[in-house]
Amino acid sequence: MPLMEPYRIKVVEPIPILTRAEREVAMVRAGYNPFNLRADEITIDLLSDSGTGALSAAQQAAGALGDETYAGARSFYRFRETVEKLAGYPHILPVHQGRAAERILFNALLTPGQLCLSNTHFDTTRANVVLAGGVPVDLPCPEAADLDSPAPFKGDIDLDRLTAALTGPDRERVGVVLMTITNNGGGGQPVSMANLRAVSDLCRAHGVPFFLDAARFAENAWLVIQREDGYAHHTPEQVARLAFDLADGAVASLKKDAIAHMGGFLALRDDALAQRCELTLIATEGFRTYGGLSGRDLEMLAQGLTEVVQPDYLRARAAATEHLGNLITAAGVSIVRPAGIHALYLNAGRLLTHLPPSRFPGHALATELYLAGGVRCAELGSLYLGQEDEHGNLVKAAPHELVRLAIPRRVYTQSHLEYVAEVVAEIAQHPERVPGYRVVEAPPLLRHFNCRVEPV
Ligand code: F0G
Repeated sequence: MPLMEPYRIKVVEPIPILTRAEREVAMVRAGYNPFNLRADEITIDLLSDSGTGALSAAQQAAGALGDETYAGARSFYRFRETVEKLAGYPHILPVHQGRAAERILFNALLTPGQLCLSNTHFDTTRANVVLAGGVPVDLPCPEAADLDSPAPFKGDIDLDRLTAALTGPDRERVGVVLMTITNNGGGGQPVSMANLRAVSDLCRAHGVPFFLDAARFAENAWLVIQREDGYAHHTPEQVARLAFDLADGAVASLKKDAIAHMGGFLALRDDALAQRCELTLIATEGFRTYGGLSGRDLEMLAQGLTEVVQPDYLRARAAATEHLGNLITAAGVSIVRPAGIHALYLNAGRLLTHLPPSRFPGHALATELYLAGGVRCAELGSLYLGQEDEHGNLVKAAPHELVRLAIPRRVYTQSHLEYVAEVVAEIAQHPERVPGYRVVEAPPLLRHFNCRVEPV
């Protein structure tokens, strides 16, 4: 059986096809920042895999059953039963999206100055640790630094540094350990079960709470089945459950692996912590049986959680990403290896060698992908992660100049992805023609979302 999408298309949406001249006008208006583009200016949107998936007919049908009762809605109980069956936690709080779960958890768990140790914090997770007075610390495994290494689990945490942190002079300050599966900030790489088990054992031995950021729990489970000894005959649900069993709770954005447009959960074992979180939930998100979501959302999430663990779906999604990765590599553009599932990360620094970090090669490549083919994506390089002095000079470059191509779930066909590869290949023929950029206007925080830049 050839690998193909295990679904057919029932509802379609036209995609805009612009001329290069029209895209140039759009980019000037957008201040050369892809975040400022309008959807009707974009041909293939690879900005995010979050909330961008296509609903199934079964999800649409489930949505029609949504019970909008304020307290005690049927839809909440269906949602809770599904998450309970999947993850096994006694307390499940629905939230409108992942970052709400992060805010509620860290405010209830961390005291000022406490450390949150992680394989890598996602941006909002890091921000919510800081806003709760905590200090986020990333401890990625050494293999993660080598973008070309084919090591299978480059999303792992560095167990030596974790042990050192839990036994060293700052051990009293460690408030929580959080493992992001898969590791979005670290090239979308998976975390092995062996690593999760070791983290769990260390946390138990030192009395530190252990949480998962489970936004892509099904994709992590799939890569464990493919890559880790002893799991080849497990189902994605079984592997996911083994991971959830190792932790004291989880935060999850369900905009990814529930293939829905909005939603999330905070799941906990500890009764007292759950009670504290529930108070904040009610005060800031919504009553405990809806948490900022409609009954329709809760129904679609429950259905999506049963679809995302289907082996045929995960196999096809992993194969599609790998296929795109192979085409891009064949065109002479390096990606972070090995390919994960939710995104590919292009090594722009290696392609655009004529541009120093201060000319933002990642941003230059992302902009060129739009100008050349209407493909929108975001840089993960010095524009986002670099540091500048008061005169706007880059004083600290990002460790790598990357561009993330995030793949929405069930949205683009193989021919769409092949088109993206063609656009990449076209740019790769004359990389020296891609101009660098300088910042014209930037807010003090989260500047990659709002800045305006111009080619130089
Ligand atoms: N954790 C991870 C690992 C994420 O990737 C995200 C979101 C969040 C938490 C926050 O969840 O958006 O529902 O509040 N990632 C999106 C992305 C935005 O494009 O990678 P949220």
